Amino acid sequence: MNPIERPRRLRRDGLRKLVSENQLTASDLIAPVFVDATTDERVGIETMPGHERVPIEESVARVEEVLETGVEAVMLFGIPESKDERGSRAWAEDGVVQEATRRIASETNATVITDVCLCEYTEHGHCGVLENEAADDPRLTVKNDETLDLLRKIAVSHAEAGAEMVAPSGMMDGMVGAIREALDDADYADVPIMSYAAKYESAFYGPFRDAADGAPAFGNRRHYQMDPANSREAMREVELDVEQGADVLMVKPALPYLDIVRDIREEFDQPVAAYNVSGEYAMLHAASEKGWLDLQETALESLLSIKRAGADLILTYFAEDIADELA
Ligand code: PBG
Repeated sequence: MNPIERPRRLRRDGLRKLVSENQLTASDLIAPVFVDATTDERVGIETMPGHERVPIEESVARVEEVLETGVEAVMLFGIPESKDERGSRAWAEDGVVQEATRRIASETNATVITDVCLCEYTEHGHCGVLENEAADDPRLTVKNDETLDLLRKIAVSHAEAGAEMVAPSGMMDGMVGAIREALDDADYADVPIMSYAAKYESAFYGPFRDAADGAPAFGNRRHYQMDPANSREAMREVELDVEQGADVLMVKPALPYLDIVRDIREEFDQPVAAYNVSGEYAMLHAASEKGWLDLQETALESLLSIKRAGADLILTYFAEDIADELA
């Protein structure tokens, strides 16, 4: 009789660690930070326990907290003091993200990445200029090319403020090329673009939309974000972004789309990022509050699975808690 194969031999504590195929480190993680120009004190975000919107004055202190855990990069989101039709506070020199970026970049060693989008800045909450405003108009759509002109301005204003990388999240066609050109023309050829290349129209963004006050006032984002049913389309989106000069390719959300992370990893050489979104964070918190799941363990397992699928970078609201654990 043949001896039985014994993979269990390598599973005892010390050996198990030696043979582990994937490791999570604090340097893989990016912590999202919300800066809010409408408040002068920190406000907790109910749907995302442990996270807050902080006033501009507190942005450096907030980022220092992140750095203390060992996480070195932050992704900034802004809540402007006012919103309008076209989201003009998104590219203002004294806008919330620009102010916070300037401070953080000059006073800390953090790597500052900025979200380039309009939904937090438009009164209607859509990621661009609207074609038609009637809430019940089935033709409601965001005008692609007009929106590109605004995205160029936002990206350049972030670079001017000191952003080390910009991350367009609006899913407009041609956005990476437009931003690349604008950055190059403004002498920011060295500022890379992390494109939200495959961003799905996902119900897992719910808590974020509360946090950043960016829910569409009417309609939905189906006509610009991707259909969760599609994977070949994701490859096409990524290919287009690569052609236009994307430096890092992001998939969002992460856990329900690990197949997409893997597909991109296999097809492309660029670094792959995955965004472990607000809903993925909120559901583990909710279950652990009920005593049904262990928060740290499930968070760690989730992030490890994202790495295993092929992500090099992970944006996650768990960044600080997990980094503490890894240290
Ligand atoms: C858009 C943007 C969104 C998220 C990041 N950037 C929201 C959306 O598309 O509705 C979601 C992040 C999350 O859920 O954690 N600027």
